[in-house]
Formats: sequence, structure tokens, C-alpha cells
Amino acid sequence: MQNFTYFNPTKLIFGKGQLEQLKEEVPKYGKKVLLVYGGGSIKRNGLYEDVKANLSEIGATVFELGGVEPNPRVTTARKGIKLCKEEGIEFILAVGGGSTIDCTKAIAAGAKSEHDIWDIVTKKAAVEDALPFGTVLTLAATGSEMNAGSVITNWETNEKHGWGSPYTYPRFSILDPVNTFSVPRDQTIYGIVDMMSHALEHYFHHETNTLLQDRMVEAILRTVIETAPKLLENLESYEHRSTILYNGTMALNGMVNMGYHGDWATHNLEHAVSAVHDIPHGGGLAILFPNWMEHTIDANVSRFKKLAMRVFDVNPDGKSDREIGLEGINKLRSFWSSIDAPSRLADYDITEDSIEVMAEKTVSASPEFGNFKKLTKEDSISIYKASL
Ligand code: NZQ
Ligand code: ZN
Repeated sequence: MQNFTYFNPTKLIFGKGQLEQLKEEVPKYGKKVLLVYGGGSIKRNGLYEDVKANLSEIGATVFELGGVEPNPRVTTARKGIKLCKEEGIEFILAVGGGSTIDCTKAIAAGAKSEHDIWDIVTKKAAVEDALPFGTVLTLAATGSEMNAGSVITNWETNEKHGWGSPYTYPRFSILDPVNTFSVPRDQTIYGIVDMMSHALEHYFHHETNTLLQDRMVEAILRTVIETAPKLLENLESYEHRSTILYNGTMALNGMVNMGYHGDWATHNLEHAVSAVHDIPHGGGLAILFPNWMEHTIDANVSRFKKLAMRVFDVNPDGKSDREIGLEGINKLRSFWSSIDAPSRLADYDITEDSIEVMAEKTVSASPEFGNFKKLTKEDSISIYKASL
């Protein structure tokens, strides 16, 4: 285990009816509020009205930026930044999934900067400050509600990059499982794959003495595997929605990965696919992760064996470590297929023709990527080919 410092200032407010807490939290930061949301789901499920009612009770002046896209665009963040600067916004409230929250992080940082937000996303300019913001999460997936990361897409250049800063933690996040009841089946599945993928990204490292961390990551995977099929039988189960919601936050709020660095190559591979084809993040991960695993198994077979035995209950009798590891990968594939996650790039009509351009994007920031095994453009091509 390496030395580490853990810091997470986000106040997590979880459970039924917790939206009321907006009245306690928002006035701490100001009354000129920018409400940021996505393509309209919050208007259809009534959350928009409830949020507005709470803000009205505290006498907030509310400006709005709706229409944040899944895979949020830098152009939308720029609109929000302009609004913040022109209107002197004091606090931003994101109501939505990871895309709305990520866009809000970009607006918060951009509002306090003279640089164009794309320069911040691409790390040409540093984040020096950010407007305070909070979130009302509506989709269990990214963990963005309790981390400082954000992923923004530039659709003009077909680039999608992650960035973050100590200034871009939400001040608070309200997680009411009821607000996730209306998430459609497909988005629920993508969220489940995404949080499992975060756990898997953590799991693949070469650090020793990470006994507790490994057990915590395994617990997330086992809990999601146990709960997901039950939730998909009943999308309005408070019990299962709350389990999945809490798992999504824990998978990427930094708690389970102290003292080591996970891999993160598969996220880079997926972001390159979404940058070109605008597919859902979790859908891309379900296709790519098992193929990344098969490609890298020999970098440290023991990690794959451990995953197979501890998470997928593979019986090791009479098998080599590699065979056990491969059986675990197959069990992951079968699990994702059993919940109807996509398994081939062809499911999104992505053909061999785009492999070159996607592979080039995986190395646009640096010629090698991934911590568990360094990958090059050639590796990206192989993994994409195996995923066709
Ligand atoms: O836009 P609306 O109308 O709200 O609809 C959304 C959207 O169509 C819908 N939705 C959300 N909550 C709903 C709902 N529909 C009905 N009822 C509700 N309660 O679901 C669709 C997808 O929403 P989105 O926010 O895009 O999904 P998600 O939370 O999976 O976020 C994906 C984005 O996050 C990035 C991804 O790359 C992608 O851009 N990531 C962010 C990370 C982070 N900040 O830490 C880490 C992740 O690995 C990921 O890369
Ligand atoms: Zn992810």
C-alpha cells in the first residue's frame, strides 16, 4: 500500500424525502441560483416542480440551463458559463445524472476562469477556483455526485476527455432512490455496468497489501451482481434502487481505492468510442471490458484468478491460474449478457471502418495509457477488433 491523503468534502444526503434539505443547504452559498438539468426527464417525473418549489420557499432567484446532453458537450458548458458571468450566479444546482453533474462542474470552474473551458478540460489551463454547486442525483452510475471528476465532449473535434480539480467536488449531493425510479431499463443497465466497471478499474493493479481495498471492491461487485437482476424485475423497488444507488457512489468516491492506482485503460478506450459514435458510456464499457481483460490477463494472472474466485465463485480444482482467470472473464460476460447489456460494437452499428480513428484518439493525450498494463495504439486496435 502506498502513502495516501484522502479528502472528500461532499456532504452526502441519502434517502426518501431528502429533497427538503435543499432549503437548508442552498442558502449557505447564495440565492442567485443556476438550475442545470438534462433533456427533460425531471420535467416528466415531477422532480423539476419539487426542486423549484423548494427553491422558491427560500426566496431564491432561479436561472435555468436545460438540455444538457448525455455525453455533455463543451458548447453547453460554455452557455452555462456565460449565464453565470452575466447574471452573477452564486450557486449552481445540478439535477440529473452524471452528464448534468459533469457539465455543472465545467460551468462552475469556467465561471471563475478567464480561460475557455475546453482549455481547462484539455489541461492547457489550470482550475483556480469554482462556483459552489450541489447536486440532486437522478441516475445511479458515475459517482460524479461525490467526486471531483468530469467528462466533457467536444463534438466539433470528436474528443471526449476527463478532467477534475480539488475545486470541483459538489458541496452536497442529495440521493433519494425514489428519484431514480423513472430511469428506464436500458439506462439502469448502463449505470449498473458503469459502477461495476469502476470497481473493476480499481481491482487491476500490482500493489501488494491492499487486503481491505480488495475486499471492499469485491463487495461492491458482489452486491451489484446480487441486486441488479432483482432491480430489473421491479424498477420501482425502493430497496433495490437504494442498494444500487449507494453502490454507484461508493464505487467512485475514492473510498475503496486508497493507497494504490487502478488501471483506467478501458475508460480511455470507451471515451474514444463515445467521442466518435456518441454511445452510452455503460454500453461501451460492457463491450470493451471483457476484451481488455483477455488482452491483459498475462500482465498479472493472479489478479484475474482472485477476481474469478472471490467475485464469480469459480471452482479452481484441476485448473491452471490462467484457466481460472479466463473462466472469471466469461462469467462477467455471461452476467452482463443476462441483464441485456450490449456485448459487441456491432450492437451500435460500429464497424471495422472506425477502428483506426478511435484507436488514434486513445493515444491523443499520451502515447501509452493504462496503469495495470501500458497500452499503445496497437493494443487499442486489437481490443477494438476483438470487440467488433
Ligand atoms: O437528460 P435527461 O432527460 O435527464 O435523461 C437522461 C439521459 O437521457 C436519463 N435520465 C437520468 N435520470 C433519469 C433519466 N431518465 C428518467 N428518469 C431519471 N430519473 O438517462 C440518460 C443518461 O443520463 P446521463 O446523465 O448521461 O447518464 P450517466 O449518469 O450514466 O452519465 C454518463 C456520463 O458521465 C460520464 C460518462 O462518460 C458520460 O459522459 N462519466 C463521468 C464520470 C465522473 N464524473 O466521475 C465517471 C464515469 O466513468 C463516466 O465517464
Ligand atoms: Zn465510468
